[in-house]
Amino acid sequence: MTSLALREHEAAATAVAAVAVESAAVAAEPGPRDISVRRLAKNFGERRILDRIGFDVLRGQAVALIGANGAGKSTLLRCCLRLIEPDEGSITLLGEKAETLNRRALRRLRARVGFVFQRHNLVPRLSALTNVVHGAQARASGPAYWFHSVAPRRVREEALHCLAQVGLADFAAQRVDTLSGGQSQRVAIARALMQRPALVLADEPVASLDPSAGEEVMQLFVDLLKREKLTFLYTSHNLRHATHYADRVLGLREGRLVIDAPAAQADSVALRAIYDR
Ligand SMILES: Nc1ncnc2c1ncn2[C@@H]1O[C@H](COP(=O)(O)OP(=O)(O)O)[C@@H](O)[C@H]1O
Ligand SMILES: [Mg+2]
Repeated sequence: MTSLALREHEAAATAVAAVAVESAAVAAEPGPRDISVRRLAKNFGERRILDRIGFDVLRGQAVALIGANGAGKSTLLRCCLRLIEPDEGSITLLGEKAETLNRRALRRLRARVGFVFQRHNLVPRLSALTNVVHGAQARASGPAYWFHSVAPRRVREEALHCLAQVGLADFAAQRVDTLSGGQSQRVAIARALMQRPALVLADEPVASLDPSAGEEVMQLFVDLLKREKLTFLYTSHNLRHATHYADRVLGLREGRLVIDAPAAQADSVALRAIYDR
């Protein structure tokens, strides 16, 4: 090798080493990743909301993202799907680099991700079953998926199966505006399952429920996703929900990721410090 080639070779090796050190914390665990976020940054006006965030979510893992109100949890979750456009950084979701996708490819990627919001976003005057059938629109479109009554039989049966998985088989025909908050959120979970997602994101999925309904729905949600071996990233401002239901906890404070730890080892003092002003 000539001395110039050698110098270039060394420079390249140093650059690789630097990258390796930077991602060592997130790359420690082996196994396929469903989410990889690197140096993600987002500003709203002059305010930096997310400051060079990096983390991985391993396939099949349940990961809780915690942080005080306004910490940027929802922004981070939405950036993962480019529902909000990040300013910098890269996001790999289910093996696809989100920032390189055109609109059509992005739509296809989003269809593989079940998203459950704090408020269920169901169509109130339609039945639970029809709302779940709507989840199939992620894979197929057309009037056949507008109402359960006109949906193909196999779609209707699949929707019923999804409702049964959340314990609501007996409520299929009921209008969702007559269901309780916990039941509505379970319908929203069934609708997300109907997408046959590869990955599920949830933004404070039980924050609008009373504590006991919240526990019940969280337990059901996590059990269901574990059984289906689905990767799960959810936000919460409830510490117990984070440490009890997740495999790993990410903590966001002042735009930085200050905690990335297995839930069983997440230090309770450090966790509480996330909320100190
Ligand atoms: N579209 C927006 N325009 C300007 N500021 C926003 C917008 N969305 C969120 N913010 C601000 O960004 C910060 C983070 O918000 P958010 O991600 O909703 O936090 P969290 O979900 O942790 O409560 C908040 O201060 C919020 O006011
Ligand atoms: Mg939020």
